[in-house]
Amino acid sequence: MKRKLVAGNWKMHGTNADLAEVAALARAHPDPRVDILLCPPATLVVQAAALAADSPLAIGAQDCHPAASGAHTGDISAPMLADAGARAVILGHSERRENHHESNDLVADKARAAQRAGLIAVICLGETLAEREAAQTLEVIAADLRASLPEGATAANTVIAYEPVWAIGTGLTPTAAQIAEVHGLIRSLLAERLGEGEAAGLRLLYGGSVKPANAADIFAIADVDGALVGGASLKAEDFSPIIKALEATA
Ligand code: 13P
Repeated sequence: MKRKLVAGNWKMHGTNADLAEVAALARAHPDPRVDILLCPPATLVVQAAALAADSPLAIGAQDCHPAASGAHTGDISAPMLADAGARAVILGHSERRENHHESNDLVADKARAAQRAGLIAVICLGETLAEREAAQTLEVIAADLRASLPEGATAANTVIAYEPVWAIGTGLTPTAAQIAEVHGLIRSLLAERLGEGEAAGLRLLYGGSVKPANAADIFAIADVDGALVGGASLKAEDFSPIIKALEATA
């Protein structure tokens, strides 16, 4: 049976003072009916993983380099993240695609590196507002999924997050029909690539302005297996109700 998943992305937020939130989250859900993943900045992965040890909370990272090691000043490899205690890594977030000009090819290379290191790759896809308004959403998602998903992807080592760029940090969310349409497309493309069984087991997350107030409505949408949460994952008191809303569907 597929376990649904709530993932938190702290982005470039968090210092030692915020580790109390990790500790609170690790204690708040002793026997959850869903998987819980929190991705703090790389500087906090070791300490967060120590705080989450012996709890159901898994710790992840927000990016990795495609190579395992080498002359890449400032970069962090997937084996290093695994060694630090990470179990997953977010890849191809729209903020990295935009700010660091990451291509689908690079995202696929990073996902291969994550697989080799035994990390779950959380691969992000999403259309811009201009693409949505030009009715290009489905073709953009299809092209980015085809090119970002590496061979060797399975339901166990890969998660796909649909994050419309215009919904991130804006308080705007797509309609239920819009989310269902994109998630249905992703599921059918995965079935073509991986086969029906593997596609059915692969978690599809929605991300973009998920809050305690809208989580239950989003989790009721077809083909939504959880959420990738930004701002509302920073405080355990905001993240926990989202986790409980997903548990109510599991
Ligand atoms: P917000 O939940 O803050 O909109 O961020 C979503 C996101 O980008 C998660 O990766």
